Amino acid sequence: MSDKIKVALVGVGNSACTLTQGISYYGEDDSRDGLWHKVVGGYRAKNIELVGAFDIDSKKIGLDLSDAIFSKPNVAEKYLDLKPLNVKVKKGILHDELPYHVKKSLDVDAGEPDDIVDVLKSSRAEVLVNLILSGLDRTSKAYAEIAIESKCCFINATPSPIAFDRAFVEKFKEANLVVAGDDLMSQFGGTAFHKGALDFMDSRGIKITRSYQLDVGGGIETLNTLDEDIKFMKREMKTRAISMELPYKFETVTGTTDYVDYMKNKRTSYYWIQGDGFLGSPIMVDIYLRTSDGPNAGNILLDVIRAVKVAKDKGDFGAPFEICGYGFKNTLKPVKLNDAYQNFALKYINSQNV
Ligand SMILES: NC(=O)c1ccc[n+]([C@@H]2O[C@H](COP(=O)([O-])OP(=O)(O)OC[C@H]3O[C@@H](n4cnc5c(N)ncnc54)[C@H](O)[C@@H]3O)[C@@H](O)[C@H]2O)c1
Repeated sequence: MSDKIKVALVGVGNSACTLTQGISYYGEDDSRDGLWHKVVGGYRAKNIELVGAFDIDSKKIGLDLSDAIFSKPNVAEKYLDLKPLNVKVKKGILHDELPYHVKKSLDVDAGEPDDIVDVLKSSRAEVLVNLILSGLDRTSKAYAEIAIESKCCFINATPSPIAFDRAFVEKFKEANLVVAGDDLMSQFGGTAFHKGALDFMDSRGIKITRSYQLDVGGGIETLNTLDEDIKFMKREMKTRAISMELPYKFETVTGTTDYVDYMKNKRTSYYWIQGDGFLGSPIMVDIYLRTSDGPNAGNILLDVIRAVKVAKDKGDFGAPFEICGYGFKNTLKPVKLNDAYQNFALKYINSQNV
């Protein structure tokens, strides 16, 4: 049996750019700084092989993945020079209307899509990672169906309901496949940090009464959230993820607030948290967190890809709770940040991580 995990990417954007660089960088030497878990379920970064990529932007289609990831409108940082990967970006499908501002920034290829099932089968891809823009629900669902038809497991980084949809999970289960999602939770991003701060205050006996989180960033995905419907859908999803962190009700609002083009792949999150201490004495916290979106997705994607492969090989089909809770914001079963980590670690992170 091969020790490679063959992975195909849908959406060659900023997350795909950093993931591709990370697989190469840590594949060469996983003792380098910045890698959270060297070994997940027995697999290392060098065991991950990219075998396919799909996009709808004509600036990327036809290029080798190593070049496409640095094509406009991508803004993620170039950390290293990549050798050609011998993976040509193929034309994907689009079953939704793109928001006005996004349409202006992409050169959507008007041609017929490639035969994605054929590409996935002939490259023997085992895992398809969905990294397309948020809000394209019909398209994400169609990619999930394609994954099932191609006998690929599916990782849904977008907020479109796939692993949150019981009927879809059942379909993956019946096909002896694994699905993980929805809406990736960055390693040290807005949601994880917000949950962590609330958790810490709660663990010190502070009764949280209110919190909010405002995010500003660049990149096409942030521009995409200027669309009111997408903005509110994401806000609802993030707010639900934050609300489940505490065992009691409190007022909270969280979401992307604006797009600043020159911030590129960077993000600033501002948090305000209010709680009551001894005798109801007020406690207030104001924090700024500055991160980069692409790198913030890297470790989680590397871990989830490896865990999905392990789950499939062990026959843990459907949407394993330990993987979804660790890597995603929108899960069928609510789980606290630290519990999610412990569940994942117990099952997938072995003692070789020293
Ligand atoms: N830290 C993170 O980066 C992070 C965290 C949470 C969730 N996510 C989610 O991951 C997804 C990707 O984020 P990103 O920052 O890489 O986005 P991005 O805008 O940089 O890239 C999206 C890519 O998808 C392509 N695309 C759009 N429609 C497509 C289609 N129908 N088929 C194939 N390709 C298509 C675009 O051309 C672009 O290359 C988003 O849905 C985002 O919400 C990312």
